[in-house]
Amino acid sequence: MDHIIEMRGVHYRRGDRELLKNIHWRVKPGEHWALLGLNGSGKTTLLNIVNGYIWPTQGEVSVLGHRFGEVDLRELRQSIGWVSSSLQEKLYGTDRAQFVVISGKYATIGLYERPTSEDTDRAAALMCTLGCGHLWDREFRTCSQGEKQKLLIARALMADPNILILDEPCNGLDLFSRERLLDSIHELALQEQTPSLIYVTHHTEEIVPVFSRTLLLRRGEIVRAGDTASVMEERTLSDFFEAPVVVEKHHRRVYVRAAGPEA
Ligand SMILES: Nc1ncnc2c1ncn2[C@@H]1O[C@H](COP(=O)(O)OP(=O)(O)OP(=O)(O)O)[C@@H](O)[C@H]1O
Ligand SMILES: [Mg+2]
Repeated sequence: MDHIIEMRGVHYRRGDRELLKNIHWRVKPGEHWALLGLNGSGKTTLLNIVNGYIWPTQGEVSVLGHRFGEVDLRELRQSIGWVSSSLQEKLYGTDRAQFVVISGKYATIGLYERPTSEDTDRAAALMCTLGCGHLWDREFRTCSQGEKQKLLIARALMADPNILILDEPCNGLDLFSRERLLDSIHELALQEQTPSLIYVTHHTEEIVPVFSRTLLLRRGEIVRAGDTASVMEERTLSDFFEAPVVVEKHHRRVYVRAAGPEA
């Protein structure tokens, strides 16, 4: 397989609005991507196309070597994990954390069969990687938002996906929970046989170094896609935000602020 995701000339129209315009995007095996864009720029729409939830109006899409139109999308979807904070509300709050994670293997909400000892061991190992092993017996509803996000990532990984989409996983997290979650994602990316990670955010500082590639999306168009280091330049980002910004780098992460009159 040459590409994990390949889009060529993808457009997506809704009524008279073009929500995605002429998208050319390739994700190669081993790459982890960050997707950066303001509200309404089309990030979730783009990923809904990857997942086959919506169909492009024009253009070609291949995911994991399968061309859309020639593949059973339900089957393909099992290879794609998706974590977003809106998923939290759909899960049974009184389930123990371990069951929330284990049931991810079958992509069900709630667990109807006795898990095998392999499932249990795998869930324990994943929770350990994500730094939430101590929550094993906790009721899901009693976990903090950051803890829930880690459990949901572990849950998504139970199905052994080839692609893991993290759609604003740090939403609603305080500064420290966010750092802990980012550490866990970093840890995950360093594991062998890790899925291709796609990390959606509005905040450049969440793009940790494992995301070596970044795509900038504005009003449904790709403004720039490539090496994170070259994308995260002051001039590129000022052009992208259509406003002068100041870029500061700390520990290979980029912090952006609007350039005031003093800058
Ligand atoms: N089903 C739909 N019908 C009409 N417009 C839609 C539909 N889905 C999305 N849109 C519009 O498409 C644009 C892109 O939406 P999308 O959810 O992809 O943005 P986003 O980049 O994920 O934003 P956010 O950062 O707020 O999550 C928005 O203007 C949105 O209102
Ligand atoms: Mg979105």
